[in-house]
Formats: sequence, structure tokens, C-alpha cells
Amino acid sequence: HLHPSDIQQMERGSVVRRSDCRAKGGAPGFKVAILGAAGGIGQSLSLLLKMNPLVSVLHLYDVVNSPGVTADISHMDTTAVVRGFLGQPQLDSALTGMDLVIIPAGVPRKPGMSRDDLFNINAGIVKTLCEGITRCCPHAVVNLISNPVNSTVPIAAEVFKKAGTFDPKKLLGVTKLDVVRANTFVAEVLGIDPREVEVPVVGGHAGVTILPLLSQVKPPCSFTSEEIHYLTDRIQNGGTEVVEAKAGAGSATLSMAFAAAKFADACLRGLRGDAGIVECAFVASQVTELPFFASKVRLGRGGAEEILPLGLLNEYERAGLEKAKKELSESIKKGVTFITK
Ligand code: NAI
Repeated sequence: HLHPSDIQQMERGSVVRRSDCRAKGGAPGFKVAILGAAGGIGQSLSLLLKMNPLVSVLHLYDVVNSPGVTADISHMDTTAVVRGFLGQPQLDSALTGMDLVIIPAGVPRKPGMSRDDLFNINAGIVKTLCEGITRCCPHAVVNLISNPVNSTVPIAAEVFKKAGTFDPKKLLGVTKLDVVRANTFVAEVLGIDPREVEVPVVGGHAGVTILPLLSQVKPPCSFTSEEIHYLTDRIQNGGTEVVEAKAGAGSATLSMAFAAAKFADACLRGLRGDAGIVECAFVASQVTELPFFASKVRLGRGGAEEILPLGLLNEYERAGLEKAKKELSESIKKGVTFITK
């Protein structure tokens, strides 16, 4: 109900109509779905994306508890319109019309488990969700978080290929947490603000496949060989550090949500047409002989529009690269055969 003074103002043209409120002066808004939104990562990620002014519509899908998370997040007084979807029968409605789909669905690690131990459960979940994407939003950019990323990204690619909708530029495995950790640990060693540090992390997202390129750190700096060993080991095992500290209560969720929100924001700025957006991600690639590899990519209107070369590696990094490729190759094959077998 309008107050009489509102009506007077409206007649003078100074009150926006309710239906106009969402438009915000024509600023672009993107439709984003989070699959697994009620989980440890999903809840914090939903919160952070509800705060992102580039998001106009936020769909929260899970097989449990999404109505509660949706009610809660929807009370935040930010622009995005939030809608909840519960269970498989609502998957298609959750996905229809989305520009960006973020997938943190699946089980996390417990102490003593490797990311590969999650394969049996998470492979099937990722397959089902990606089949939904082929039906409802085949042109959306996909940010895949569910582990083991080194295998789930090849699974997603095979599902998309089978449906004839695969666009290699639109499928990105999220390795941003490795970069976030690397920036933090390197900044600690250098004694500077982590926001000033940029560490490229290439390869994949598990153990030795996580390859920080410490010779390419910005700002330019040098490390002793002890520092290089310490940093490489800590970056590769950062996930396990959290899994052990949580002692059975899961893996990284808060720092992961932070990393995923930053990565999603970069993808949205790319979709908007901003220039010079570069992030590391695990993508279909020709940077090595492997079909997938994490490296710096330039994000644009079409997704990962350009895969940037690895640049110069030192001897230590070249040795790390060989180890990484060996393990990666197996993980990629495992993902591909899950669909093609
Ligand atoms: P969680 O168990 O707290 O949440 C997972 C959520 O997925 C739950 O709410 C669950 O109901 C939901 N889910 C299960 N099956 C589903 C389905 N078929 N459709 C939709 N939702 C479904 O786990 P958490 O800690 O949030 O981790 C999620 C995933 O992210 C795990 O696979 C974990 O290994 C991975 N992860 C990846 C990282 C990366 O850097 N890429 C870092 C940390 C975790």
C-alpha cells in the first residue's frame, strides 16, 4: 500500500515503481546457481554471493536443508533475489536460465583420506548435476569445486560431450583456494600484506599435482631453498592441515567459500566484459600434453577465453611438473572412464 505522499511523489516521477527496483539503473545482473548450497562451503558461499552486486538472481539447490538456508540468506538487504530448490525433482528449475553454476556438492575428506577416496561418491553426484546443466543451461559457465577436482572436471567434460554441449571455455575446476593459501603463506614468509602477493599455482588440485610457481611470485622476490621446500610442502598440504585440525568434522569450508566467491566474482566480471581478468583454474588445455591442466586463464564474455602459457620454470619446478603430470594423467583417465566405460 502506498502512502499518499508516495503517490504525490510518484506523480512527480520521483518514486521508482516496485518492479523497477531490481533494475538498478540498468547495471548488468547475472543469474547464479549454487548446487550443494546447504553444505559447509555452500552456506558461506551463498552468503558471500548474496553480497555480490553483480548477482541479480541466486538459486540455492541442495538435497537437504536448502529451504532453511534460503529463508535465512533471503533476509539480507542486498540486491540479489534468492530462491531455494530442494531435491532432484527441483534440479531443472534451479538450473534454468543460469549464467553461472557453482558446484560444491558432495562429501568432504576426513583425516587419513585422500581426495581420490571421495571419487566413488562424488563422481556420481557430479554426473547427475552436469546432466541437469546440459538440459537446462548448456551455455552457463560452470565452477566445479567437488573433489577430486582432477577427476570431476574430466567427468563433467565427458557428460557435456555426450550431450553435444561441451564448450571447453565454460568448464572451470576451482583451484583458487590453492592460490589463496599460497598468497597467505608466501606473504607470511616475506612479512608483507597478502593482498599484495600473487602466486601462480598450476597443475591440479591434489597433493603433488598442486604446483606453486614460486619463481614467478609478484612482487618479484627470492627464497632460500629451505623456504622453497617449506612453502611448496605447506601449499600442497594446506587442505590436509585443515582436515586434521577439524578432526573428522570435514575439510576447508570457510576459506574455500572465500576463494570460490572471489573466483565467481572474477568469472562474472569476465562475463560482463571487463578486461584483464586473469585467474588460475583447472581447464581443458594444451599447455602440456595432458587434456586438462590448471594454469592462468584470461576470463571474458566466453568464459576462459585464453589459456596463458606456464612461463619460465626453474629446475625445481620442472621436476615438480613431471611428478604432477604423472599423477594428473591417472586422475584424468579415471574421470573419463567413469563416463565412457
Ligand atoms: P558438506 O558435506 O558440508 O556439503 C556438501 C553438500 O552437498 C551437502 O549439503 C549435501 O547435502 C550436498 N549434496 C550431496 N549430494 C548432493 C546432490 N546430489 N545434489 C546437490 N547437493 C548434494 O561438504 P563441504 O565441506 O561443503 O565440501 C563439498 C565438496 O567440496 C567436497 O567434495 C570437498 O572435497 C570439496 N572441496 C573442494 C575444494 C577445492 O579447493 N576445490 C576445497 C574444499 C572442499
